[in-house]
Amino acid sequence: MDTKEILKNLTLEEKAALCSGRDFWKTKAIDRLGIPSVMMCDGPHGLRKQEGEGDHLGINESIPTVCYPSASALASSFDREVMTKLGHALGRECQAEDVAMLLGPGMNIKRSPLCGRNFEYFSEDPKVAGEMGAAYIQALQSEGIAACVKHFACNNQETMRMTGDSRVDERTLHEIYLPAFETAVKKGKTRGIMSAYNGVNGSFCTENKTLLTDILRDKWGYEGFVVTDWGAIKDRAASVAAGLDLEMPGGPNATGEELVKAVREGKLSEEALNRSAENVLNFILASIANKKTETIDRDACRAVSREISEECAVLLKNNGVLPLKEEQKVALIGEFAKTPRFQGGGSSHINVPYSVSALEAAEGKNIIFAQGYDTHSDTDSDKLIEEAVIAAEKADVAVIFAGLPDAYETEGADRDHMRMPENQNELIRAVAKINPNTVVVLHGGSVMELPWLNEVSAVLLMHLGGDQVGAATVDLLYGEKNPSGHLAETWSVRLEDNPSYLNFPGEEGVVNYAEGIFVGYRYYDKKKMDVTFPFGYGLSYTTFAYENLRVDKESLTDQDTLIVTVDVKNTGDRTGKALVQLYVRDVESTVRRPVRELRDFAKVELAPGEMKTVSFALDKRAFAYYEPKCKDWFVESGEFAIEIGDSSRNILADRTVQVEGTTVLSFEITANTTIGQLMKHPKGSVFVRQMLGSRMVAHEDMSSSMGEGAERMIQKMMFETPIGSLVSYGRMSAEQLKSLIEQLNN
Ligand code: BGC
Repeated sequence: MDTKEILKNLTLEEKAALCSGRDFWKTKAIDRLGIPSVMMCDGPHGLRKQEGEGDHLGINESIPTVCYPSASALASSFDREVMTKLGHALGRECQAEDVAMLLGPGMNIKRSPLCGRNFEYFSEDPKVAGEMGAAYIQALQSEGIAACVKHFACNNQETMRMTGDSRVDERTLHEIYLPAFETAVKKGKTRGIMSAYNGVNGSFCTENKTLLTDILRDKWGYEGFVVTDWGAIKDRAASVAAGLDLEMPGGPNATGEELVKAVREGKLSEEALNRSAENVLNFILASIANKKTETIDRDACRAVSREISEECAVLLKNNGVLPLKEEQKVALIGEFAKTPRFQGGGSSHINVPYSVSALEAAEGKNIIFAQGYDTHSDTDSDKLIEEAVIAAEKADVAVIFAGLPDAYETEGADRDHMRMPENQNELIRAVAKINPNTVVVLHGGSVMELPWLNEVSAVLLMHLGGDQVGAATVDLLYGEKNPSGHLAETWSVRLEDNPSYLNFPGEEGVVNYAEGIFVGYRYYDKKKMDVTFPFGYGLSYTTFAYENLRVDKESLTDQDTLIVTVDVKNTGDRTGKALVQLYVRDVESTVRRPVRELRDFAKVELAPGEMKTVSFALDKRAFAYYEPKCKDWFVESGEFAIEIGDSSRNILADRTVQVEGTTVLSFEITANTTIGQLMKHPKGSVFVRQMLGSRMVAHEDMSSSMGEGAERMIQKMMFETPIGSLVSYGRMSAEQLKSLIEQLNN
């Protein structure tokens, strides 16, 4: 039987039952019609399958399995193949464990480094988040397992996470907070979406018709189903009416009866309930059809986890001390060298039977160890620091493992500050004073202040790198592998520099996204602010050159595709991976735009001396901004720079092209519309040009008496004048103005 047939045979009660879960993790079965129950589980960087009592906070036991690097690490690989590998590994594990859907990936934008779940999110940039997410979704779903992108939308903090209202202007919503989800829908073809706990612009996401129907289904053409975040439901009937399908968790308190009542009382249309039941049924039936028999080799998965962890690491500083040499005596210092922090807390927490520390992985090498600090305390221990200094003194190189302890970042709570524990800062300073070859390995899911950065020789960011992170770290430190990760989030100098600082986390239930589109590097670059490390930054043990940047046309319309090609060459003496970043800059614009925006990227492996050619195809979206006046993407005609860089601050090659926008902006004209605004209106601009023509002589007189630049000033002044004022200035009568407005609006 197909879905439509089944739907016809379902009673009202059964349809409502399908729309809320059976228990914490499963959908309801309808035995009468042979519809089974299917299971969904948390991920996204491992399988958190709970066979006993369920919970959404990472408290109760789940099956012992493999933990992969978390999303903030994964994004730093900037490598779609890494996501593909992970998606396949998790998909096969879900099949083996009889799980139909994995709850992830998390696609929210990193608005502030304080968000407690930043480790679960990819980037401050929507292109990176979207591309990494889409690759993971495609691979996972090719194994027959549904992805469930979360948390839709504007769920960018943990404070007030279940109650807050994110107030975001329309342009910002479309340019920053929605595109990653859009890519997950259009390119990833995700079968599931989880609506967020919070509200957006006055309506909870579970009941937000603008998000769930107008944008998700009507604009993006989404065909999957929408599940609530766990316990997010407020008004059940309103949620179904807005486009939400499944309530989770289910169980005795789920609200199926409310739906039946709402339909009977005429408060909810049966058609809306049918639609939701059909979406849930489609998911269940497809899961059954996609069911495969798999066995899982967890050791092979651990090897994948180690490989991925290596691809994600970012070398932030290196004065040449790295890679280490086998013959060197190395002091491994810090609790994290022995017990690495490799995952975050909360619903994504994976039950790992054992993990590999750097200390274990370095066995057999010339190393000594000192604990250095206690992860359960922030205060210095003179004794631990003294021991570490003694060890560092005896060694050729001191490698300190530091970063954020568990208590510093978790789901459910935002960070209080951006600092590392003070006892770790003290330790690093003390060791760096005694040993000039001091290396710091960092663990953590987000940005940290690094007050000792100038005192150390090298810094390697291992993120929350999964349960094999210790082995990956040793491979990278000793040059078995070459670091190739880049930052998917700007490291600002201080928390106070962050664009959301004055509006995070908001108050009285409201979060104003007042910084608008200027999130992450879009802000820091616009303000030309000093940052510790820019977006896209990352070093390697080799060097790369970017040459011969070319475009297939010098001028195009926004309906054309521009092919951009560049040669990248390994100019060093080790094999390594270059990250080619393509940014687009609107050279001149009448609306506020960031200096540049990342429009594509490619990771390329190169042997010493090897050269490869990389190509990108840019379409309208690469040049457009979201224009609320036409509720669509809009290209303002003019010059655009195509820039290739190895970070948002280091552009190595550029070319300009002329792009002509083909959309005509038409909007309502009133007496208060300025002459400048009229210039953007198809008929208005004709009127302005005629008017300007007749005033040219007068301008020339004025500008010659005012000197250089006067013409521009006069034009600016005129562009700020509302057309209504032309009456006061005696340029036209009130009747003429009225008829002009009518003509223009017609
Ligand atoms: C989290 C989700 C998670 C769900 C189920 C919620 O608290 O926000 O990300 O998938 O619980 O555990």
